[in-house]
Amino acid sequence: MGRISEDKIQEIRDRTDIVEVVSSYLPLKRSGVNNQGLCPFHQEKSPSFNVNSARQIFHCFGCGVGGNVFSFLMRMEGLSFPDAVRRLGEKVGIEVEEEAVSPAEVRRREERERLLRINEVAGGFYHQTLLEDDAGVAGRRYLRQRGYEGETVRAFQLGFAPEGWESLAKHLAGKNFSSEDVQKAGLVRPGKQDRGDYDLFRNRLLFPIHDLQGRMVAFGGRVLDDSLPKYINSPETAVYHKGQTLYGLYQARDAMRRSDEALVVEGYFDVLALHRAGFAGAVATCGTALTADHARLLKRYADKILLVFDEDAAGRQATFRAMDALLPVGLSVSVVPLPTGEDPDSLIKARGEEGFRNCLEAARPVLEVFIEEQLRINDQSVEGCARAAEQVLERIRRLPGDLERSLYLQRLATLTNLDVALLQSKVRGGSVVQSSVRHTVDRSPPARRPSAETGQAQKYLLRLMLVDDQQRRRVRDEGTGELFLDDLFCGLADYLLGCEDEDGRLPENLVDASLDEAQQSLLAGLVFQEDRGWADNPEKIFTDCRRAVNKSVLRQRLKDLGRLMEEAQGNNDEAAEMQYLRERTEINRKLRN
Ligand code: UTP
Ligand code: MN
Repeated sequence: MGRISEDKIQEIRDRTDIVEVVSSYLPLKRSGVNNQGLCPFHQEKSPSFNVNSARQIFHCFGCGVGGNVFSFLMRMEGLSFPDAVRRLGEKVGIEVEEEAVSPAEVRRREERERLLRINEVAGGFYHQTLLEDDAGVAGRRYLRQRGYEGETVRAFQLGFAPEGWESLAKHLAGKNFSSEDVQKAGLVRPGKQDRGDYDLFRNRLLFPIHDLQGRMVAFGGRVLDDSLPKYINSPETAVYHKGQTLYGLYQARDAMRRSDEALVVEGYFDVLALHRAGFAGAVATCGTALTADHARLLKRYADKILLVFDEDAAGRQATFRAMDALLPVGLSVSVVPLPTGEDPDSLIKARGEEGFRNCLEAARPVLEVFIEEQLRINDQSVEGCARAAEQVLERIRRLPGDLERSLYLQRLATLTNLDVALLQSKVRGGSVVQSSVRHTVDRSPPARRPSAETGQAQKYLLRLMLVDDQQRRRVRDEGTGELFLDDLFCGLADYLLGCEDEDGRLPENLVDASLDEAQQSLLAGLVFQEDRGWADNPEKIFTDCRRAVNKSVLRQRLKDLGRLMEEAQGNNDEAAEMQYLRERTEINRKLRN
């Protein structure tokens, strides 16, 4: 993909107003220089989401996210940066032509556009048939029988494929789509001998599958009776990749974002049922297992995943496969137990919304369920127990959070009667001996991890850099590497220095897309605080912050010296030991002053 030129990005940004863009998603209220609203990225009751028009940035004091208009769209719509730029460009009438796109890429894009258009027309045809065509009577009757009408049908744009062999093929040919393209879209198959193309979906209820922009990219189709196969699905095409698509995500993502929770279910009808019952954050895979790509997709919208699979062997297996995809991404995953033989659709039909809510309340962390399952399927012998522990440890190893790892290790220890320390060493990937060796290796080189206090000091320094041109110059003179301890702060300080114009001033528009997500959020937060007139004594703030940072560096060095001296002692290196001792005395003296 070609790069979008900096000029273009700037031009588009100059022509858009972040307040206007944000307002198209949520109501904003003026409050002083800012506009406030309820944060769309986390659940809240009083508004802490701020948009500043002069600076063209947003920041949420509740959850800490922030950035410029591009990052807002990226988060909101799940777009990549170039797509966010393109989207805004379209809005303000600036065409984003890219540098250096190969002819092959141009052809691929054009083909994708044609396939999307074909899917759209086909979806319209199917939807229309279901809603009002004579050919759709059977579909309407079936849906009504299952209790689905009106709003759900529209929200999911359900359709019906008529009985004949060529209904869609003819409809599309009539709109001048080439047979080749319609085949590539997976909607028809070439007929044998001299026969024309025939429809893939016949006499089936259709579930259109949307991409994140709400465009139809594929379909799943259910028979109206007990014949087999019960469902058929569009094949993979240039616009449809099952491993990266979740049924219902387009309709569910706002609810997911608000509740920070996603429900993952097995079937199309389950998504509909939950949506209608008010559990709108539900998605299903499209007849495949959950992949790592699916997991990353979900993580954009929610941190908690609730797996709602059938209570049978296949459902169990799907649950644990999903677990393997979801846990390594850092999602917290729970299992919602269903009564045997029910799925969300049938359960809600039988016991209503209340019935499903009860199930939700019984949700349990997936790893806990997995531990029990492993202990159950392996016999009670020592070997069986070890096998089970091995299986569980493999999962615990992949958990990204220390805290979680430790909690589950304890749980596993309790359930298996194995020693926690032993399990811990196993998780580190080796025997007890290896793990203690690794422990010393971990301590060197020393981590430059700032304490909370120095973190605060560095933030003050950054704020100071934003409001005081003179102090910013001081930062430049003394060097960001000296004044900032960790990469996030230091990178941002360097960035700010790089933003200065010839007169040594900072521009209004500071939050640039070249910053990463963490930097953007941090900077936007700082910019919002800046208006509060706090820096009445900038020199003192500067020196205080510098002292705090220096202290922290010295304390860290003290810790390292302790270790170095031990080592020198162990090696009988008296000269080194003396040198470290002198340094330690010197540092202690400095710290006392
Ligand atoms: P189920 O067999 O559990 O069907 O398949 P269901 O979703 O409960 O549907 P109803 O309630 O009987 O109408 C679960 C999911 O597995 C995929 C579909 O995505 C389906 O929704 N599937 C199932 C297929 O892709 N092909 C099949 O033949 C069967
Ligand atoms: Mn079902």
